[in-house]
Amino acid sequence: MLKERRIVLGVTGGIAAYKAAELVRELVRREAKVRVVMTDHACRFVTPLTFETLSGNPVATDLFQSAGSFEIGHISLAEFAELVVIAPATANIIGKMAAGLADDLLTTLLLATNAPILICPAMNVKMYANDIVTENLARLVSRGHAVLEPGYGELACRAEGQGRLAEVAEIAEEIETILAPKDLRGEHILVTAGPTQEPFDPVRYITNYSSGKMGYALAVVARRRGAAVTIVSGPTELPAPQGVVFVPVKTALEMRDAVMARLEEATVVIKAAAVADYRPAACERTKIKKKDAALTVSLKRNPDIISEAARRKGNRIVVGFSMESDNVLENARAKLMNKGMDFIVANDVTEPGAGFRADTNIIRIIDREGAVETFPLMDKMDVAGVILDRVKKVRDGGRIRDGL
Ligand code: PMT
Repeated sequence: MLKERRIVLGVTGGIAAYKAAELVRELVRREAKVRVVMTDHACRFVTPLTFETLSGNPVATDLFQSAGSFEIGHISLAEFAELVVIAPATANIIGKMAAGLADDLLTTLLLATNAPILICPAMNVKMYANDIVTENLARLVSRGHAVLEPGYGELACRAEGQGRLAEVAEIAEEIETILAPKDLRGEHILVTAGPTQEPFDPVRYITNYSSGKMGYALAVVARRRGAAVTIVSGPTELPAPQGVVFVPVKTALEMRDAVMARLEEATVVIKAAAVADYRPAACERTKIKKKDAALTVSLKRNPDIISEAARRKGNRIVVGFSMESDNVLENARAKLMNKGMDFIVANDVTEPGAGFRADTNIIRIIDREGAVETFPLMDKMDVAGVILDRVKKVRDGGRIRDGL
């Protein structure tokens, strides 16, 4: 999603400068055009050649570079940038920026650019906790700059605490978010994701193969596009998406309670979770022992969460998924109408690359007028984009049926 986006990366002099090399790799992998500017101190930690090799572009280090290098001078870099990222940002550069100093190429460029600026601090825990650094960062935030807080853990100086440069994936995600168009600003999207687990004794449960990837992709893309996002997730192995409210649950009953408790604030509900339709009628307090005879577990129906949410629909847009192995369209249409959705996303688990666990999906979107739109095999992030485009279209078209 960063294809052809023009990013200037400012690297300053901290041990985390080596991680900036990984960041360049990641941005290039996402097809961004990356130009690197290094301070003198940064060059003591990593050589410009490293960044030149990884970015495929010359690295700028000197404000007074010869005329032949004008194309990477501070003004042309300031104009080239759609975003300037400073990673790692030391206490020194943060202080200089807050004071408006311009005594080298990077600080000069920072004053000369109109592009948004993302600051990724990394320093010793005590330096980061120092009031002056806190005040300087607050000042920069008040001027509209974005700050991605450092993580906690063991630092290069052996101290423990907050000060580690944010992970490369987090920085890349923040960059994606800053650069994405904010066409969903004002929406609060409640997404459900993953499987539910329905226990029948302390060591066993009924579940399904959902990995959460489809629902998490929706949460990530919705947040990038400016929506406030809450994700209610069954157990998955995925890290919680950043910048969203994350509500972990296990059972369908817990998911129902979590969704209904947050329904009021939601303007859009997207139910990508694979909710178990049944749960064991009883959950034994102790482990069920093996016997020679067959074991029968009796099941009872779980509440249908999306139907319940649709009954309190108001102006909300309600989107469901349909996961089928046969009669895909027919079954999806029935769910769309019976469960009171605005539109439904059908996926066929028997198609290779579709449904559970894959990074890709093949979907059809069916609306209440009966129109069916078919999409090819796509990455789940792109599928999320298509679904959110449709949400936007429904919102813009005013085709919201009040209180079904
Ligand atoms: O998580 P992944 O590995 O990425 O896989 C993605 C997915 C296949 C799980 C996803 O794309 C998907 O299809 N999710 C819905 C699966 C499902 O439960 O479909 P369904 O046809 O059984 O249910 C229809 C709709 O009713 C769904 O929106 C479901 O969330 C909702 N539902 C179902 C049962 C229930 N008790 N309450 C509900 O709200």
